Amino acid sequence: MTTIDGSQPQPHGGISSRCVREQALMAGRLADPALLDQAVEIKLGKDEAADTCLAVPLGGHRVAGEVTVSGWSQALHVLLALDGRPGFPDVRDGALQGSPIDAPRTVRWGLGTRLEEPSQRAQMWGYHEAGVRAYVVEQTREDARVPVTPMPEMPASPTVARIHDLLIGGGKDSYQADRQFVACLPHDDAQALSLTAVINRMHLPGVVAHLTAQGIDQFLDLGCGMQSTHGMPRKNSPTEALHAIVARYRDNARVVYADHDRRLLGSFNIWAEGHPLEPEWVQGDIRYMEQFLSSGRVQYLLDWSRPIGVLLHDVLPWIDNDKTVTTALAVLREQLPPGSALSVTHAADLGENRMMRFTAAFRKAGIAFKPRDAAAIQALFGDWPLEPPGLVPTHRWHPGHPHAELAPHMAGALAGLAFKPENNP
Ligand SMILES: C[S@@+](CC[C@H](N)C(=O)[O-])C[C@H]1O[C@@H](n2cnc3c(N)ncnc32)[C@H](O)[C@@H]1O
Repeated sequence: MTTIDGSQPQPHGGISSRCVREQALMAGRLADPALLDQAVEIKLGKDEAADTCLAVPLGGHRVAGEVTVSGWSQALHVLLALDGRPGFPDVRDGALQGSPIDAPRTVRWGLGTRLEEPSQRAQMWGYHEAGVRAYVVEQTREDARVPVTPMPEMPASPTVARIHDLLIGGGKDSYQADRQFVACLPHDDAQALSLTAVINRMHLPGVVAHLTAQGIDQFLDLGCGMQSTHGMPRKNSPTEALHAIVARYRDNARVVYADHDRRLLGSFNIWAEGHPLEPEWVQGDIRYMEQFLSSGRVQYLLDWSRPIGVLLHDVLPWIDNDKTVTTALAVLREQLPPGSALSVTHAADLGENRMMRFTAAFRKAGIAFKPRDAAAIQALFGDWPLEPPGLVPTHRWHPGHPHAELAPHMAGALAGLAFKPENNP
């Protein structure tokens, strides 16, 4: 058995009592107890004393597995520990839509079918006959419930994702630090920043309409941000999620969200679970594009033999190193299959809307922010030809944008979209 703390393999220490219990239980029920040799003990917190749980890989008759933990924070430890690990395909959080963040959550891997019958579930987990019977008895007991210990969240500094959600009218998950950041901006600046964020979000439906019309049915939203969790966002509102928009055009599309901020996974699960498109969330850092794209989960979730629509909406300004951005985009362009699309929105100084004026305020809050000029933004597409109307203020890209009538400078950003030419290897 291996012991894991988050994503870092650790030298094997003492096994927690929960883990010992689970190991004994599985040893008595698995048709192939040798699977326990490859089982993983996962630490469910950063503290020395954090509890651990046991994850057993697939093999033989075992075609699915799961562990139940108390809250999304613990689930995150499990997801990060198992992501891309042999024997744990398609690791996912199975929380129901609307589940509170501190409610118990089950992380699953392998076969996706949810079986109601306890005996069928136990067979799917690779239990032998007596093990199946024991599980069925356990499930029919009155007290067959998992104990819950809510995990407190103590956010001290503002984050781009939460500020952005606040600016577009969400903000249910914002904290004092995020609200304070916005409150400290001069009133007109706060309004201007909010408008740029709304214009950016309302660009999404036009992009999706264009991409789906061109046959794109796989979407990778890099730097996807936070989605407000206060009820279901209204259609055509800035808080409407990508997968909800895509679903208007395709009922079988694949939508994969990625962000480097792992704290977003909890809110993602709340609003995405149960949606027919079954969108997925992957932790990924654009600065390490090569590692991200080659990770098992990204390779597994998307079909790399067909075109993929990649969205980089208002994410690159938050990476201030030009070389890092240039390299990441070069890797992305090279690895995407021909016919794939790249949709970018990027903060830029337009006329009197000097987005650069926000750089110092963000820096003070520990957040890098770098608007770029049109030439630098255009270069992100390499030699891919831009679709009409080219690189333009975001609300002028699609004629259906609800703010298309506003003056160009109010977007505070430029938008462009390009397809990878078919003859471009
Ligand atoms: C302003 S939000 C944009 C959200 C969304 N794309 C949209 O258009 O509404 C920027 C997002 O980029 C994410 N981000 C910043 N740097 C990143 C990086 N290096 N890799 C991945 N995501 C990043 C932030 O966590 C944040 O969620």
